[in-house]
Amino acid sequence: MGDHARSSLHAAAVLLLHLLLSPATAAAAAAAAEPPYTCGAGAPPNIPFCDRSLPIDRRVDDLVARLTVEEKISQLGDESPAVARLGVPAYKWWSEALHGVSDHGRGINLSGPLRAATSFPQVILTAASFDPHLWYRIGQVIGVEARAVYNNGQAEGLTFWAPNINVFRDPRWGRGQETPGEDPTMSGKYAAVFVRGVQGYAIAGPVNSTDLEASACCKHFTAYDLENWKGVTRYVFDAKVTAQDLEDTYNPPFKSCVEDGHASGIMCSYNRVNGVPTCADYNLLSKTARQSWGFYGYITSDCDAVSIIHDAQGYAKTAEDAVADVLKAGMDVNCGSYVQQHGASALQQGKITEHDIDRALRNLFAVRMRLGLFNGDPRRNRYGNIGPDQVCTPEHQSLALEAAQDGIVLLKNDGGALPLSKSKVTSLGVIGFNANNATRLLGNYYGPPCVTVTPLQVLQGYVKDTRFAAGCNAAACNVTAIPEAVQVASSVDSVVLFMGLDQDQEREEVDRLDLTLPGQQQSLIESVANAAKKPVILVLLCGGPVDISFAKTNPKIGAILWAGYPGEAGGLAIAQVLFGEHNPGGRLPVTWYPQDFTKVPMTDMRMRADPATGYPGRTYRFYRGPTVFDFGYGLSYSKYSHRFVASGTKPPSMSKIAGLKAVETTAAGGGAAMYDVEAIGEEACERLRFPALVRVQNHGPMEGKHPVLLFLRWPNATDGSGRPARQLIGFRSLRLGAMETAHVEFEVSPCKHFSRASEDGRKVIDQGSHFVMVGEDEFELSFMA
Ligand SMILES: *[C@@H]1O[C@H](CO)[C@@H](O)[C@H](O)[C@H]1NC(C)=O
Ligand SMILES: *[C@@H]1O[C@H](CO)[C@@H](O)[C@H](O)[C@H]1NC(C)=O
Ligand SMILES: *[C@@H]1O[C@H](CO)[C@@H](O)[C@H](O)[C@H]1NC(C)=O
Ligand SMILES: *[C@@H]1O[C@H](CO)[C@@H](O)[C@H](O)[C@H]1NC(C)=O
Ligand SMILES: *[C@@H]1O[C@H](CO)[C@@H](O)[C@H](O)[C@H]1NC(C)=O
Repeated sequence: MGDHARSSLHAAAVLLLHLLLSPATAAAAAAAAEPPYTCGAGAPPNIPFCDRSLPIDRRVDDLVARLTVEEKISQLGDESPAVARLGVPAYKWWSEALHGVSDHGRGINLSGPLRAATSFPQVILTAASFDPHLWYRIGQVIGVEARAVYNNGQAEGLTFWAPNINVFRDPRWGRGQETPGEDPTMSGKYAAVFVRGVQGYAIAGPVNSTDLEASACCKHFTAYDLENWKGVTRYVFDAKVTAQDLEDTYNPPFKSCVEDGHASGIMCSYNRVNGVPTCADYNLLSKTARQSWGFYGYITSDCDAVSIIHDAQGYAKTAEDAVADVLKAGMDVNCGSYVQQHGASALQQGKITEHDIDRALRNLFAVRMRLGLFNGDPRRNRYGNIGPDQVCTPEHQSLALEAAQDGIVLLKNDGGALPLSKSKVTSLGVIGFNANNATRLLGNYYGPPCVTVTPLQVLQGYVKDTRFAAGCNAAACNVTAIPEAVQVASSVDSVVLFMGLDQDQEREEVDRLDLTLPGQQQSLIESVANAAKKPVILVLLCGGPVDISFAKTNPKIGAILWAGYPGEAGGLAIAQVLFGEHNPGGRLPVTWYPQDFTKVPMTDMRMRADPATGYPGRTYRFYRGPTVFDFGYGLSYSKYSHRFVASGTKPPSMSKIAGLKAVETTAAGGGAAMYDVEAIGEEACERLRFPALVRVQNHGPMEGKHPVLLFLRWPNATDGSGRPARQLIGFRSLRLGAMETAHVEFEVSPCKHFSRASEDGRKVIDQGSHFVMVGEDEFELSFMA
């Protein structure tokens, strides 16, 4: 029954989107251009690299062997020219698709005939759904729309530089909005399923790596999460990272992106890690990613990240040294032209060999071949029949709506301020600079959306007498019109404010210095709340967290919603939540810290607290200070309960593991034993896995989608052992009708889930108590030899 209600609601939403579909977009499904490429045209017939029946390696070797040294070097930049004599087409490596196919970068042209692509919410909001199946379906849509654009002759590349999976370590980071949040396990899961969707793989299980629908790229490898903080820029920043933090915070999303997602691309970052530029780090690129994780694909630099190794960082003495450093480390293509410019002189000076170049070229051409770009007429390829009618379909647009609906987080709802009732709200005041600008719904790295509609426009369809006042100019809120806003607020029945941030405040190259709302925003909100007849509703559009303690405690602010940057369907999703047509179920994927947190230097990469110096630690796993809202926080219009079901929760005896080898702790921790996970061995680890069955009930009054979060808690997190306070070990999103009950089974693997990184970066399990928690319930499990 819940399903029925949902589908009719859905139908209404899709219909509304259709009505709003702009004529320009409808006209876009125009005739396809000529197919972009026929392999080997102009080359000798039956050339092996065009023979799709041969293994990729053989074809690549054949092609590379035919290139002159000049031709080879020409291929090492993101704009790789054609080699006409062999029928090798030009290729553009740089395309973007962070939350929908975008025309940022150089590979995608959305100036026509196709002029739009489905624009999903900015990633931080989609993450808040805690729903991997949703993340996967978004990846799938991106893969399909990318192919459609390519088949329509509007793409010169199919390598997309998404997802951004750096851990959102500091709330001020301007690009935190692009990421799935602060938890490494969650980011790793997001990475894996998103990549699988984009590349045309199944959501789980084995993949056929010779067949890519589109190529996804795990970026920015690694420990990159600072743009420009008090003059320290990402181009020169040297991130000092401990082995422990690298192992259990910074690298896990990348490991998962490669091992579970089978990503075909990695981008090395601008910053250095412990002195070494990541693009010049053999240990990171070759030993860790390729050898240890089994990475199969190409590695690109971030744009101009090779030149800065010499120019900005002075790490390499000459341009040729920079070229040698990156090629020998395992980087394959340079976003920019530095390697193309200085490759020949590096070779002449003996700093690199032709072998170094061939190594990179093999990775590059293998990806292009896996994409089917050397298979002749692209329309005869596996993905060749995806036409322009596959872009901005009603299904894709309704998925954009679903993602926005499922991500929105209800932060406060006192005295049933929400939901509003259409029949009872006779007049509505809509206040705020973020209420009537569709571009601001998109965050950054967006493409032209299928539809353009603002929250104000949607709300005007809900309440006929809707009155608007911007109140101030932009998020900076330094040009105000507070009296006009107050006038509107005092004259209407209900008031909704659209405040928060915009890209002037948080974006690439711009970190925030404060966590409070900028400019006169607080004063505007309070003036409006004082003037309104009833407690007002505050909707925050922003990626990073803000300290809104004043609003949390102000009784004249009845409800608060966080809606991230909700994408093309965001206005509709917000209205549906406000009017109870959708029950909010999103949870915060990051900790919301108080303004006081800004005393912590952004440049301090340590995750763990250091009580001796007052350093509070970072993220819910290690932060030991007060919060505005916690990681995983979010309300609903319904009440839910959770408990473990004993009959389905069968932990093994932890004392019966043969050969369990204790390693004494060297650090603080009372000399308690810990066990080396590697020494336990895969087979014993397998035997330790157990099911944890959780009963979840929706106590009403509304149907809703509800994320269930499973955590591991250690006792004594503050004893100096460096353990997290708690750690997310599983999550699942359920749709439950009012009063409905369901059971979810989690598989718990003590080796994976109970382990932590020791100071030297080894995986260990502590002797003693561990608690598995869901909601208000937990059970204990003790590790004893
Ligand atoms: C994009 O395509 C349009 C229409 O075909 C064309 O006019 C324009 O030059 C292209 N832009 C680029 C950068 O190639
Ligand atoms: C993998 O994909 C390639 C290219 O589509 C195809 O030729 C091959 O048969 C597939 N391999 C398997 C095992 O399915
Ligand atoms: C909407 O916001 C964008 C991005 O901040 C800005 O460039 C544009 O001028 C705004 N449009 C209007 C009509 O205010
Ligand atoms: C308002 O703030 C913006 C962004 O910080 C700034 O560019 C602009 O100069 C300011 N305008 C005024 C009138 O202070
Ligand atoms: C917690 O730490 C204290 C002090 O180090 C120790 O006495 C106590 O036994 C520990 N408790 C557990 C459950 O490990």
